[in-house]
Parts: sequence; C-alpha cells; structure tokens
Amino acid sequence: MILALESSCDETAAAVLSPPSKLLSSIVSSQAKEHEPYGGVVPELASRNHLVLLRPTVEKALSSASVTFDEIEAFAATSGPGLSSSLLIGNTAAKALSISIQKPFIAINHMEGHLCSPFLDMEIKPHIGLIVSGGHTLLVKVKQFNDYQVIGNSLDDAAGEAFDKVGKMLGLSYPGGPEVEKEATKGDSKRYNFPRSMLNSGDLNFSFSGIKTSVLYKLKEIGTPDKQTVSDLCASFQSAVIEILVKKALNAAKLYNLPTIALSGGVACNGSLRNLIKKKASEEGLELLIVDKKYSTDNAAMIARAASERFIRKQFSSLDSDVNPNLKI
Ligand code: KG4
Ligand code: ZN
Repeated sequence: MILALESSCDETAAAVLSPPSKLLSSIVSSQAKEHEPYGGVVPELASRNHLVLLRPTVEKALSSASVTFDEIEAFAATSGPGLSSSLLIGNTAAKALSISIQKPFIAINHMEGHLCSPFLDMEIKPHIGLIVSGGHTLLVKVKQFNDYQVIGNSLDDAAGEAFDKVGKMLGLSYPGGPEVEKEATKGDSKRYNFPRSMLNSGDLNFSFSGIKTSVLYKLKEIGTPDKQTVSDLCASFQSAVIEILVKKALNAAKLYNLPTIALSGGVACNGSLRNLIKKKASEEGLELLIVDKKYSTDNAAMIARAASERFIRKQFSSLDSDVNPNLKI
C-alpha cells in the first residue's frame, strides 16, 4: 500500500494505492477559492494552505481507503516541478511519515504523474503522451515506464496558461480554462480567425502566446464586448488551440510510428479537445487513452500510480533528496 501526496501548486491531495494499479482513495482539497480574488495562485498563500489542509486530507485518504497508517509500505510525494514552498510541504510530510514507521520514501516528478494518469488502472504501454496543463505543454515519447523522450514543448505559454490569461482578459473568473470552455459552448468558433501558430512548423513544438495576443488585439479593437462576442472570442480561441494540440499529437504518433496516444493534464478536461482528438485518432486508426476528467487536474492518484511503478522496481529516494521547482522529465 502506497500513500502519495501532491502539493506542487494549489491543490492539496493524498491518495492510497495498492500496487501496481488498484486505487483505493484519492482526495483533493482545492484552494481555488482562496486564490480566485487574486486572479492566480499566490505562492505564500498556497504553502500556508497546504500546511492547514495536509493532515485532514491524509486522514481522509486513509479512512476512505479503509487503510490504517501502519499498513502503508511506502510514502511518495511530488518533488517538482512546481512552487518550491508548496512542494516542500508535501515532500517534507512524506519524508517525516516514512521516518516515523521506517518505510521507504519515493520522490515523483509531477509530469511523470500526469503521464501515468491515463494508465491508472492498466499497464503502461509504449505511447505518445500529450500533457496539457497550466504549466506545461509536452509531447513525450514513452517507450516504457521511466524511458521518456520529450519530443515537443511549448516555446512560450503553456496551453492552460493561455486559457487562463484569455479568461482573465475577458473578465472571467479564475481558473480561466473551465470558464472559457463554458463560454465557448455558446459561441461561434468561426467568427474570429486566430492564428494557428506553428501548425506547419515541421517540428513538434508549440507556441500559444501569439494566439493569446491576437485575442488581446481583437478585444482592444472591439472595446467592450457584448455577451455573444465574449462567447465567440472564447470559441474561436479554443478552436485554434485544440486544432494545434491535436494535429501535433497525431504528427508525433506518425513520426515515431507509435499506435497509441495518451492525453493528460488539466486541459484534458476540455470537452472540445476530447472530442476532436477522439475523432482524429479514430480517422487515423490510432488507439487513444484519455485521462478520466477526475484525474486530469492535479491529484495524488497519478503520483501514487507513478510511485507504484518505482516501488515495484525498488527505486526508492534518499531522504536527503531535495525538491526542484524546475525538475525536467
Ligand atoms: O494539470 P493542472 O491541474 O495543473 C498543472 O499542473 O498546471 O492544470 C491546470 C490547468 C489550468 O490552466 C486550467 O485552466 C486548465 O488546466 N483547465 C482547462 C479546463 N479545465 C482545467 N483548460 C481548458 N478547458 C478546461 N475545461
Ligand atoms: Zn499538473
């Protein structure tokens, strides 16, 4: 039994998993409401909230898994990337717990967690991983667990970050991603033709800041948009972003001759992205695994799943290991 903690940003999360892939509980205590007045995550506030929320979240994870503390065989925590003051809370707690009952500690890369999230209840197979979150937009060639090659990256804003910034520009509440999607369902995606940056760049990298700036210029031209215009701007922006994401993921699968694509990260909640990638993958005869919406935004189940692979291989971490806000996959 593994107890995993996730505290890289503004979600305090704990999960219990029986290796290799039997998830027994996953609790996420969201701080979104605390950060909403500031329009983004305030690191100082996030770490203070992690301190308050961690213990009850762990207790809830253990009780809903019907597992006692003594039954835990390893403690895992996210060690990066993320906010250092937030990472430190979960990381230090997991290390302290592991010392208290002399059980191993396992440090997990948050991005590896996202990569594993579409494989929560199945074996990890060779695939192209598309991770679209608030901090990253990555295409990763996965040969097997722990054998990763980043083949595409965002040169500027992450896709989720662009969603959040456009949401903020349009006066929507934080986080912008889900709000932009809500507005987009009422809008016309063809009203504004935002640039499909790097769609035909010949590589697998992304750039979203140009699209975001185009929305800003269009907004300046319009002045104060009416309700329908806000919806149309959201729909047009969303359609540009998802078209690029899907095309590049398919290109990657073709280029590396891999028959499976796995989609993960917070933006994987987006219904239009899910629908478009399903349609295109099926047209190309590719297998598609999409993370369950529940596990697409930050959670500890995905950290536990990655930890279970390390646990099976006895890949434990030193208690001296540090957190790394810029940890790469
Ligand atoms: O994976 P995640 O929880 O955190 C990071 O590791 O960054 O992703 C959060 C991101 C935010 O930018 C949020 O706006 C975006 O995922 N997001 C969405 C949707 N739900 C969450 N973006 C677009 N459409 C959504 N439905
Ligand atoms: Zn994340």
